[in-house]
Formats: sequence, C-alpha cells, structure tokens
Amino acid sequence: MSAKTDWLKILIRCRDNVKAKIRPYLESATAQQPVLGTGAGGDPMKPVDLAAENAIVEVLEQNLSAFTLVSEESGVKEFGANPAQCYVTVDPIDGTTNLVRRLPFYATSIAVSTLPVLSTVFAALVTDLFHDTTYTAMEGKGAYRDGKKINPSPRTSLEDAVIGLDLNSYKVKAIAPRLSDLIEKTGHIRHFGANALELCYVAEGLTDAFVDIRGKLRVTDLAAGYLILKEAGGVITTPEGLALATALDPMQKIKFIASGNEQLHKQILGLVS
Ligand code: IPD
Ligand code: CA
Repeated sequence: MSAKTDWLKILIRCRDNVKAKIRPYLESATAQQPVLGTGAGGDPMKPVDLAAENAIVEVLEQNLSAFTLVSEESGVKEFGANPAQCYVTVDPIDGTTNLVRRLPFYATSIAVSTLPVLSTVFAALVTDLFHDTTYTAMEGKGAYRDGKKINPSPRTSLEDAVIGLDLNSYKVKAIAPRLSDLIEKTGHIRHFGANALELCYVAEGLTDAFVDIRGKLRVTDLAAGYLILKEAGGVITTPEGLALATALDPMQKIKFIASGNEQLHKQILGLVS
C-alpha cells in the first residue's frame, strides 16, 4: 500500500461497482432470492450479498497490490504477497431483509484499517443504496455526506430526541428490561433495519442516538459507521461507557451506544442498566 493511496477514490469505485452489479437483483423479484448458504458472520447469504461482495473485491484487486478482506459473507481472505499491509472490513449489504422486501433502507459498508482492530480504522464509506447517498470519513479529516461536511445533533433533551434502538430478534426478554427506562424517557424511538446507516444518521444529526446492546451485531456492520460517527464529532462507547476495543473479525459481535454529543450520551448511559 503506497502512502499516496487515495482511499476515498477506491471506496467510491467500490460503491459504484456495487451499485452496477446489484442492479439486476433490484429489478427482479428479489423476494424470491434463494439462500446460498451461511455467511461467515453466521447469517443466511443471498445472491445479492455475494454480488455486492464480488463487486467490492473486484475493485480492490484492480487498485491494490495486496490486502486482507474481512467480510460478513466470505470471512477473512488474503490477497497479494503482503496481505497484512491493510485490512478492508466489509458488510456488502447491510439490511438485506429490507432490500429483498423492497423496504427502502439498505447500505454497503466498507472500512479500511492498518490492523484487524477496530481502533485502527482510518477510512470509511457507507452508501445508502436506495437513496444513493454516500457517507465518507478519513481519520482526522471529518465526515461527509456526498462531499458535504456533516455534524451530529447538539440536542440534549431526551424528551425531544429521536433515538434508534435495535431490539431485533435476540434475547429480547433479557435485553428489553435493561432499556425500559430509556424508552420511557425518550420522545421518539426508531429502528430502520440497517445499523451501518443508522450510525450515519446519528453522525449527520438526523437522529440523536443509536443503541444496540444485544450483543448480536457483527463488527463488520459497525466498522465504517464507527469512524464516520467519530469523525463527525459524535460519541460511541460500550454500554459501560468504555472505548470500543475489538478485533475486526466476521464472528466478532459488538454492543454499543452512539450519541450525537457527550451530554446526551451520559444520560443514555445512566438509563441503560
Ligand atoms: C442487519 C441490520 C439490522 C440488525 C441486524 C443486522 P445485515 O445487518 O444491520 O439492522 O438488526 O442485527 O444483522 O444482516 O442485513 O447485514
Ligand atoms: Ca450483510
């Protein structure tokens, strides 16, 4: 990897190739898509997931001499003679259920890091594939939506806040009671079904916070949104308020609370038991 590698350019090329390669799946009766097997992250893999991953790998191979792919679908794959020179963590389609049901909220998420460790992510892209909106970030350079700088919400009142909450199909009897104080005090609760994109919504201030303490979300879904939120000026920690320190591995699960600002974050931490 040369010091001059223009990561944003490569990530945008990946996005464009994903958009081109998944088009046939969007035009056909996508609800009928067969399951191809289980992806490395443990979920059923659909043809559209694989098409998106292949599109990303195709561009990476054209633009890089070597890299390690960390994908929700194919797992960890090494390319070139020195694959440890960079790690590309991808969720080719975040929100596959939405896509196959034609619910207009699904994304591609790509994060680049120096090590297979979340804290070393330095370049990121999340594209809303339905609305054709792209969020990007480079470490130390802020976060952008379609090239325009974004900032999270300064809102601190829970009563007025819109907070994303993922309670999707996992240990809900244990998790829901830990969130009831937060739900009670929050004006508006949402969940759209593509967590990478929901982190970008916090980064852009469309929502005020996003909470997923299930322990079900894979780090592949979060890696890019993590940098975008941090670069926008938002806050993201474990439910205990600690920095997220985790390996980038398709099987690695993560719990987190993400907020637009410190003040709101502290209130949420205090309400989640
Ligand atoms: C899913 C979405 C969804 C979340 C699931 C994830 P996928 O990602 O992010 O919002 O509730 O836990 O698995 O499977 O479509 O990449
Ligand atoms: Ca996925």
